Amino acid sequence: MLFTINPGGVLTGTLRVPGDKSISHRSVMLGSIAEGVTEVEGFLQGEDSLATLQAFQRMGVQIDRESNGKLRIQGRGLRGLQDPGVALDLGNSGTSMRLLTGLLAGQSFSSRLTGDESLNSRPMNRVALPLGEMGASIETSGNGRPPLLIHGSNGLRGIEYTLPVASAQIKSSLLLAGLYASGHTTITEPAPTRDHTERMLRSLGYEVETEAQSATASRITVRGGGSLTGTKLSVPADISSAAFFMVAASIVPGSELLLRDVGVNPTRTGIVHILRAMGADLSFENERLWGAEPVADIRVRYAQLRGIEIDEQLVPLAIDEFPVIFIAALAAEGETILRGARELRVKESDRIAVMEEGILLLGGKAEATDDGMSIHGSTLTGGRVDSHGDHRIAMAFAVAGLLASGPVHIADCDNVATSFPGFAELSANAGMNITVQ
Ligand code: S3P
Repeated sequence: MLFTINPGGVLTGTLRVPGDKSISHRSVMLGSIAEGVTEVEGFLQGEDSLATLQAFQRMGVQIDRESNGKLRIQGRGLRGLQDPGVALDLGNSGTSMRLLTGLLAGQSFSSRLTGDESLNSRPMNRVALPLGEMGASIETSGNGRPPLLIHGSNGLRGIEYTLPVASAQIKSSLLLAGLYASGHTTITEPAPTRDHTERMLRSLGYEVETEAQSATASRITVRGGGSLTGTKLSVPADISSAAFFMVAASIVPGSELLLRDVGVNPTRTGIVHILRAMGADLSFENERLWGAEPVADIRVRYAQLRGIEIDEQLVPLAIDEFPVIFIAALAAEGETILRGARELRVKESDRIAVMEEGILLLGGKAEATDDGMSIHGSTLTGGRVDSHGDHRIAMAFAVAGLLASGPVHIADCDNVATSFPGFAELSANAGMNITVQ
């Protein structure tokens, strides 16, 4: 799939982007191992979250799905999953694989997990090794990559573990294994990471303790042997998808968008802090809670942006938004510098290398470093870039098309459907000159 963006778009109107990917994955995982029915509204019908849904259906969970993102999950309890008998294919989804690895380590059956070429080249030892300390037996392929073979075990034991990188996927994987382990499992995170697992566990009646350890670090504890109770969950619009429109409206004079029902959990709002520091005009309206998750409508108006040094503390809170933040930096006056973001090199693509390559191809100025990037406010000429099969790279360069004097062509955009089905249509409705071939 090829996207083409022609110059001249201005963004206006009210938009509702699809449901939050992280929360959608967790709704199926926790709903499936709860007692009783969980009803979900606003589930992301993207390939990643549907891969999780299908995996649980294969493990015997009845999940009825309506076309509008409503799910009815007949929970089977912590011990009710069945041997799927086949390898579970998780497509492009790192979240599915890492969280499922923790959850499956505590089952009485063994499981095989695999994915597409990108997922099968991503590091899994970051979950396999600490799960091994809990007594799990997980075979990876060469140098810690998928496919994975997880030998079932009824004998997991809780551990105390300090995350070597600020990663919500590792934390969540170990907490899910902790539900099946004897004693307590305590994870120390060096800096805050998204806490949807903890919030949703509590919503389903499972006790999770969180205590601050220092200004940034905290310890999260679960005890094995409890049970979860089915409930109703509403999934907010994904702030990581809304981010493309926050930047798009910020960089085109005359733009103003209202983004409805966006999840504004403070562990996800790094993008808002970074754009505001650059001078963006973003305001929250109608702030409210959907269950345990804060939600707001976000109004964005065009503003002249300026380059900044991005606060390293904000990196885990904006980890998925850097591709489009780099595009905001191209529209800013002066230089923007990111450091402390080496994790970007092990996402769906090496997002530092791939963004530098594309920015240079479009006529912009950027310099990759080992753990970040420096970007200069630039005028873009246009050209052809490759997303390397990475959904967020494809959408970030679509936004870059708004800055270019000529057309921008983006190759390999099929994976946009992993997190944001309907992106091109929604962007066109908002005023972007985008076509899909
Ligand atoms: C996610 C955590 C983050 C993020 C990913 C989703 C999650 O990954 O990049 O898109 O749902 O827990 P890391 O934990 O590897 O930083």
